[in-house]
Amino acid sequence: MQPNNESSYTMAAYDEAASYIRWHTPLEPRVGLILGSGLSSMADQVEDAHIIPYQDIPHFPTSTAPGHVGRLIIGVLAGAPVCVMQGRFHYYEGYSLQQVTAPVRVMKLLGVETLILTNAAGGLNPDFAVGDLMLIEDHINFPGMAGHNPLRGPNLEEFGTRFPSANRTYTKRLRTLADEVAERQGIELRHGVYAAVAGPSFETPAEIRMLRMLGGDAVGMSTVHEALVARHADMEVLGVSTITNQAIDSLDAVDEPTHKEVLEAGKIVVPKLSRLLLGILADLA
Ligand code: HPA
Repeated sequence: MQPNNESSYTMAAYDEAASYIRWHTPLEPRVGLILGSGLSSMADQVEDAHIIPYQDIPHFPTSTAPGHVGRLIIGVLAGAPVCVMQGRFHYYEGYSLQQVTAPVRVMKLLGVETLILTNAAGGLNPDFAVGDLMLIEDHINFPGMAGHNPLRGPNLEEFGTRFPSANRTYTKRLRTLADEVAERQGIELRHGVYAAVAGPSFETPAEIRMLRMLGGDAVGMSTVHEALVARHADMEVLGVSTITNQAIDSLDAVDEPTHKEVLEAGKIVVPKLSRLLLGILADLA
């Protein structure tokens, strides 16, 4: 099947994508996991894996971002039936936010109740170091506040209400669980606010200083759209950022952020992130 050009979706399109996936695997996933930049290799640990390339799924966009493999893996991870996105879609790729978040709604139709979102992010909080993990407590959705919200357009009541609340976007129960697992495993888990920007250009030093002043602890180009669509459909959401670079706030800095350093830092942090997520999944299972 060809990658699609649809920028908005009907219920029938989501249903068709879900039916195609159901037809390929008898497993009913309960947990969704979206792997961010550099984190794809986590999917290698899925057992009884049914692998479906995005391009085969009706109405699915295809991944264009480097470091995003572009396939759905359904199987078992730490005893939990999971649906893993090895590579996500971003607004900066040119997709509409409905395309970016279409897989979340398809997961909902497949029976996914809990969505775990991971990403690579720049550290705004000066206490954060490259390689840290940050539990997302809350977010600031800059594209959303400027009108680029994935729930814009006709509301599909089958999923949720027109005006969903967002004050409990990242589920308290799951945040507590993540803290417990991190403590048990001796993993230092930072907490913070994820500031979402559209990308693909990185931020200017003035923007970094502004994001920090407004309460952001980490900055990235994804995650918030998926979280909003999942909560709209009453899924529970957990978000974890991997700090892949220190955001640069000075015009005189010699360094500049690169996608290469983001991918490399992501690879290094995978074992720690895996331990945390496998511990969480084992508890959910
Ligand atoms: N800015 C925005 N997105 C990012 C960054 C960053 O510094 N690092 C990884 N994703």
